[in-house]
Amino acid sequence: MNSVLSFPERGNYGKSSWRGNVSGHVIGELLNFFRPGLFVDPAEGSGTSRDVAREKGIEYVGLDLHEGFNLIRDSLIGRLPRPADYVFFHPPYHDMVLYSGNVWGSQPHPDDLSRCRTRGDFLAKLEVALLNIYDATRRGGHYSVMIGDLRRNGDYWSIQSDIMQIAPGRLEGILVKVQHGATSSRACYGGLFIPIMHEYILNFKKDGCVVGMIETGMAVSRKLADLQRATWRAIVEFALTRLGERPVSRSCMTLSKRTRRRGP
Ligand SMILES: C[S@@+](CC[C@H](N)C(=O)[O-])C[C@H]1O[C@@H](n2cnc3c(N)ncnc32)[C@H](O)[C@@H]1O
Repeated sequence: MNSVLSFPERGNYGKSSWRGNVSGHVIGELLNFFRPGLFVDPAEGSGTSRDVAREKGIEYVGLDLHEGFNLIRDSLIGRLPRPADYVFFHPPYHDMVLYSGNVWGSQPHPDDLSRCRTRGDFLAKLEVALLNIYDATRRGGHYSVMIGDLRRNGDYWSIQSDIMQIAPGRLEGILVKVQHGATSSRACYGGLFIPIMHEYILNFKKDGCVVGMIETGMAVSRKLADLQRATWRAIVEFALTRLGERPVSRSCMTLSKRTRRRGP
């Protein structure tokens, strides 16, 4: 494996009809490299990761909003038998493909990452999702985010660059994945700009402490210091999400209120 991935065929994994699906060969390469005991995909879409994990005999947990798991509000670690060795996260690329009420379901879901009204809203929710993933990854384990950049009305938005600013953990490398069969590859833009023909896979290692310790009432400042690059807003939102799932203790309440006052 090197830093450029190019698979013209997606293989017999997941559903080719699921818009925005990833080639199973990409997942296969990542699993060959990270060799996880427990592999998790919290937005598995058509189940590409599930099919590859089954073929390789790797223990797997796959979830998605369309299956009732909400990465913005539900604790990921709470759905796992133990912290994950490796998490693959392939979120919507903002509103490039609309999922709820379009690819699945009859109504738009308010927490669907593809239904965020603004870029700011998308990044804020994505940051909470990344903290949730980080929390569910074992110390020393890895997670990857697969993402593409967007061009709208001549404006180029590098989502991958924004993710690098907000993702917790240590960046270990960036892979470029060549896009095959994308709409932009067939379109003619009259030489106005260069069509985007690639996506990124950002690999992070969890080397900090566990966000979930917030439940135990331990000093939040210590955890925040260990969380690289996470903003106050996302941390508070994530903490409140976690607290909302269990009875809120007095000390935790005090902690959250104090944190909220000091936030941006
Ligand atoms: C790019 S697709 C994943 C495609 C998948 N890798 C495949 O090969 O089929 C993004 C997925 O994110 C899911 N999603 C959006 N918002 C979510 C949320 N809040 N929690 C969990 N999943 C979410 C969508 O339902 C969609 O299936």
